[in-house]
Amino acid sequence: MSTTSLTLPGGTWTLGDLTVTRFGYGAMQLTGPWVMGPPADREAALDVLRTAVDLGITHLDTSDAYGPRVTNELIREALHPYPGPLRIATKVGATRDDQGGWPPARRPDDIRRQVDDNLTSLGLDTLDLVNLRLGDAEGPRPGSLAEAFETLAELQQEGLIRHLGVSNATEQQITEAQTIAPIVCVQNMYNLAHRHDDGLIDKLDADGVAYVPFFPLGGFTPLQSSALSAVAARRTTTPKAVALAWLLQRSPNILLIPGTSSATHLRENLAGAGMVLSAEDVAELDGIEHTG
Ligand SMILES: NC(=O)c1ccc[n+]([C@@H]2O[C@H](COP(=O)([O-])OP(=O)(O)OC[C@H]3O[C@@H](n4cnc5c(N)ncnc54)[C@H](OP(=O)(O)O)[C@@H]3O)[C@@H](O)[C@H]2O)c1
Repeated sequence: MSTTSLTLPGGTWTLGDLTVTRFGYGAMQLTGPWVMGPPADREAALDVLRTAVDLGITHLDTSDAYGPRVTNELIREALHPYPGPLRIATKVGATRDDQGGWPPARRPDDIRRQVDDNLTSLGLDTLDLVNLRLGDAEGPRPGSLAEAFETLAELQQEGLIRHLGVSNATEQQITEAQTIAPIVCVQNMYNLAHRHDDGLIDKLDADGVAYVPFFPLGGFTPLQSSALSAVAARRTTTPKAVALAWLLQRSPNILLIPGTSSATHLRENLAGAGMVLSAEDVAELDGIEHTG
């Protein structure tokens, strides 16, 4: 399902019938602190989004809960009418409270309202890809997703959504979702130091389902490890570039959505992610102590 792109590291992947660059962009960092409120520098935020598209990135990840509404409105302002190849993935299943928390919102009415909000704020008639976000800030939690996912499947039947995925999900929930409607991706936390999903990634690859790691650079806790620094020094590049290159090499079904509020960082990450790590590099990186 992956093919080689002449321009971007990692080539492309096809989500259902939508082809995207494996190097994408996650828009969560474009808000104010702790994913609440507007960015400190609105023009810089708009510039990051336009730079992503100018560089050839065709996969943006967002959610109406970022801000809330902030990243979707920035995406619309920066990029609407959207260029043909651009695909925007969003998430439903959580809302925001006054303290910046992420209370779950997964009743059918909640799901329908969030899909409608995403359509409005992004200025679209159909959403390319909607992930049902499960669990909480601590990670996946067991429990049936049927009611919420059946609602998303209905909205897909109504033509408001092209493809479905799940996020922050257990393997059992992924299996349950697949009994309700096909999924094209799973978006879970995964990076060099957090490899709980290693087996799942291989299983999804065999099934032709994409795996989209969130916090690929460690998120709010940047990845730090002596092995990562050593490989970066040996390759005269940055630890962030090595972490992204490792993910691209880890499995062909991995799609990157690293976040940044800086167009300079975006360019650096894209330039660095295409390096081919040697077997020695990979062995050293695979030895990093895992947290889950
Ligand atoms: N499904 C979910 O529950 C869920 C949860 C979290 C995130 N997500 C998605 O996943 C995406 C990625 O996660 P994330 O953005 O939270 O974390 P991330 O990609 O792991 O890391 C982003 C952090 O790395 C920094 N950074 C990036 N490139 C850098 C560079 N070259 N040099 C120095 N610092 C650099 C950014 O700071 P600067 O802004 O200064 O560059 C930012 O603080 C999000 O944007 C969002 O779309 C989904």
